[in-house]
Amino acid sequence: MIYLNGDFMPIEEARIPVLDRGFIFGDGVYEVIPVYSRRPFRLAEHLRRLQHSLDGIRIKNPHSDAEWSGLLEQLIAANEGDDQYLYLHITRGVAKRDHAFPKGVAPTVFIMSNPLLTPPKELLATGVAAITASDNRWLRCDIKAISLLPNILLRQMAVDVGAVETVLLRDGFMTEGAASNIFVVKDGALLAPPKNHLMLPGITYDVVLELAAAHDIPYEVREISEYEVRTAQELLLTSSTKEIMPITRLDGKPVGDGIPGEMFTQLYQLYQNYKITVMRGNTPAP
Ligand code: PDD
Repeated sequence: MIYLNGDFMPIEEARIPVLDRGFIFGDGVYEVIPVYSRRPFRLAEHLRRLQHSLDGIRIKNPHSDAEWSGLLEQLIAANEGDDQYLYLHITRGVAKRDHAFPKGVAPTVFIMSNPLLTPPKELLATGVAAITASDNRWLRCDIKAISLLPNILLRQMAVDVGAVETVLLRDGFMTEGAASNIFVVKDGALLAPPKNHLMLPGITYDVVLELAAAHDIPYEVREISEYEVRTAQELLLTSSTKEIMPITRLDGKPVGDGIPGEMFTQLYQLYQNYKITVMRGNTPAP
């Protein structure tokens, strides 16, 4: 079951006019929210980021947080599986093709749910391969825009060589992955790039830093050079659907010892424990 502009229906019945500005221009924003045991994870934070994205492209939020929450609750209940991921998609609506904003047009609101398939244990035991590429995206990567052409092309470069992610470098510094945030481990400390217009402020990124702070794991939020990426002890990838994964090969070379490291093991365990706390319904600080 999906939600489209006020109605719940099977996905096969959902129809979007071809003049929707999402289809014509990629003029919209989205969110991906993991659901564990039928509870949306970090909902308030995801809705805050959605508001930031909508503000960034000047679409008025079609719903209050309470309305979003109600819609998501209904959609979770209408779909199978305790662990799901919600995809929210808002476009500027349907209008005659013209770059300038149409007047008096209601946004298109689409929400779907899919099973949440977190990375299998076998993959976490070996880690995954990544490549690097130059970050050729626009300068508002903090907006979760549906126009993802650069991200798609960058991710496919990795897939073409049997890797899972592309680590992006801009002006000698690391920004993030094609569809994830990236952390570096150096001298036993966790390094995270600062949130700014060059990367998506990841919700999982925030959880990882909160966990590090709460468990006395040394960490630093600062610009990370390409050299530090290439000489990292460990590289970690985070996203709502992949949670935390170790990158053990970069551009065909081993990262550190070439196996998942201590930082990954510790953060992965803390993340799983934190998830369980959330699922039990109490969400204290990590
Ligand atoms: N992508 N950076 C980019 C460019 C992303 O697309 C994503 C997530 C992240 C991680 O953010 P979060 O931890 O909030 O999921 C960082 C989602 C999962 C997607 O597009 O499917």
